[in-house]
Amino acid sequence: RSYKRQMMCRRDIDNLSVPFLAIYESLIPPQEEKLKQKQLLALLEKLVCKEWPMARLYLYGSCANSFGVSKSDIDVCLAIQEADMDKSKIIMKLADILQSDNLQNVQALTRARVPIVKLMDPVTGISCDICINNLLAVVNTKLLRDYAHIDARLRQLAFIIKHWAKSRGVNETYHGTLSSYAYVLMCIHFLQQRQPAILPCLQGMKTTYSVTVDNVDCAFFDQVEKLGEFGRHNKESIAHLVWGFFYYWAYCHDYANSVISVRTGSTISKRDKDWTRRVGNDRHLICIEDPFETSHDLGRVVDKHSIKVLREEFERAADIMQFDPNPCNKLFEPY
Ligand code: GTP
Ligand code: MG
Repeated sequence: RSYKRQMMCRRDIDNLSVPFLAIYESLIPPQEEKLKQKQLLALLEKLVCKEWPMARLYLYGSCANSFGVSKSDIDVCLAIQEADMDKSKIIMKLADILQSDNLQNVQALTRARVPIVKLMDPVTGISCDICINNLLAVVNTKLLRDYAHIDARLRQLAFIIKHWAKSRGVNETYHGTLSSYAYVLMCIHFLQQRQPAILPCLQGMKTTYSVTVDNVDCAFFDQVEKLGEFGRHNKESIAHLVWGFFYYWAYCHDYANSVISVRTGSTISKRDKDWTRRVGNDRHLICIEDPFETSHDLGRVVDKHSIKVLREEFERAADIMQFDPNPCNKLFEPY
């Protein structure tokens, strides 16, 4: 692999921003979809509070982190303190409560890695997964949303990358490729290390927001409206950044030694994290540190086969961005 390949971006790159922005716009969920999500959440809240008046429901994941494309399912977290009930009992009970109303396909998945209740609301047509007390996900959702408010290019880039990953079949954790959450972290990392930087490192700044969840201290600067236009000194167009993103993961990232870390705004060494060898099922072939659960590598799902698939996809995309006269068609071609 040609790590040393110093490629200059094609001269006409900025002209490609128009079609990329058109793709981005076409993926934004319309206002009525957002309203339907709120409507469903309100219904769920009503049903849950009848049984558990002290419980709270939070949206998390792409419906709340601002990286949700149109027609996504919604992710909901039930926050509840029930000392005498374990998670699977709560899941069963929750499914019971929701079953009795007009919701469809209510399923309790008690044995999944993250136990959830799945359901579909026939009125809004929205599907929904409800998990229990997964408050770290609620906090990382806020972190991602706050990053999105700093520079519009993050949301644009992340939509395009998620769309690419779905089209190319590399957004499937059960097949050893990466979650949407991992791709968004890769986008944030990428924009943090641009010169000049397009995003700051919120966890490296003065703490204005802090919570402790499951014994993890989550602290960061969340008054992002005070940052002014943080990325204004960097004039890179969205097309340039899409090119740069693929080029970075194809030819610049040091997979053997580096961990990407949004928490530090940089990369850290695999050796420092002791992520140099396989432990159990964690292989650490591409390392993406969770911003709060720092012992958690979001690349852990990637195996010997899928790392090859992923890297070849990054190279393919980088080459299309560099040489193809019409990159938008080829880039998102179904695999
Ligand atoms: P789409 O559903 O593909 O649009 O994206 P999504 O943003 O909902 O992403 P995903 O389904 O990958 O994850 C949903 C949410 O769960 C994320 O936003 C995170 O908050 C959380 N999450 C997902 N995977 C992990 C993980 O491995 N660790 C932690 N801590 N949180 C995760
Ligand atoms: Mg989701």
